[in-house]
Amino acid sequence: MSPLRTARNESALRIVLLFIAQLLCVDASHSQTQFNPRFKAEVSRQETIYRSEGDHVPDGYTVDRSLANYVDALSSGFDESLAALGPGDRWLDIGAGKGQAILDYFTVNYDLSHLEGRERRGKKAQAVAMSIEDRRTADWRLSAANVGANQLQYLFNRRLREYSLDELGQFQVITDVIGGFSYTADLTLFMEKVTRFLATGGSFYTVLQDVRAEAGGNQPYYKDAPFLTEIANDTGGEVKICAWLKSISCVQATCESKKGWRPPLEAFHVQKVCDEVNVPALTPLHYEAGTPPERRFVLKN
Ligand SMILES: C[S@@+](CC[C@H](N)C(=O)[O-])C[C@H]1O[C@@H](n2cnc3c(N)ncnc32)[C@H](O)[C@@H]1O
Repeated sequence: MSPLRTARNESALRIVLLFIAQLLCVDASHSQTQFNPRFKAEVSRQETIYRSEGDHVPDGYTVDRSLANYVDALSSGFDESLAALGPGDRWLDIGAGKGQAILDYFTVNYDLSHLEGRERRGKKAQAVAMSIEDRRTADWRLSAANVGANQLQYLFNRRLREYSLDELGQFQVITDVIGGFSYTADLTLFMEKVTRFLATGGSFYTVLQDVRAEAGGNQPYYKDAPFLTEIANDTGGEVKICAWLKSISCVQATCESKKGWRPPLEAFHVQKVCDEVNVPALTPLHYEAGTPPERRFVLKN
């Protein structure tokens, strides 16, 4: 399995002190965080990782996971949800990299290994890959030419938050495997957008590495380092990512610890059940570029 996280050099003590200091001035920090030089420098370092090519792509920046990797990483219902999509349905993969998972979906092998529902699936759902940088390959162009540009789309040069509902429309299935959900500095806006682009009844499947599991008990994977993504409440208490997702109105969220991944993965399935979605707001406190970045947020009161 590829290395999924870059080495980090901050000492645990420095991190804890910074976190406490940030918590103490959380109100003022919302605007400061986005504009302070350190935050801006990290966001720009992250941009360099996105745009890296050839030998400059960091080891941990994996952009070619297969559909089998997605099935392995995402919640157990994902394979079935995807196979159940028909020609009138749509699948969005946020942070698609080279779009390998989507390419695998359009192969004959996919149908051979998903015989059930094959007739109904017909020529399959429309699939949209989204990436900040353009990582389309010759394989992608060939498949797009074969199945038709309308069936297979690759969107790049913009982040999820920069798309409107009018432009993108809605999807029955949205996936994100170490894409925007792992990389964004604004988790609230990210989830607001995801739930807007989900059709009612539709499912968002995603993962995070190295976070406190729903069942608790696990420790950060790297010695003397914090979890990769952390949320605290305004008194400094820990809020699990799973609990935050479950607190979004009009969705049903389930969380699953995945075995065999190093660092460990927590998989999330968020199903939209009605339209009045309200995402409890998180203030970004800390962002350190990486593959993926290290992030901390505070839940606004
Ligand atoms: C590490 S790659 C993962 C690629 C693919 N999912 C895989 O597993 O091989 C991260 C991808 O997320 C994209 N990404 C990061 N933040 C994003 C955002 N806010 N909106 C859209 N794409 C984003 C990057 O451009 C890149 O395509």
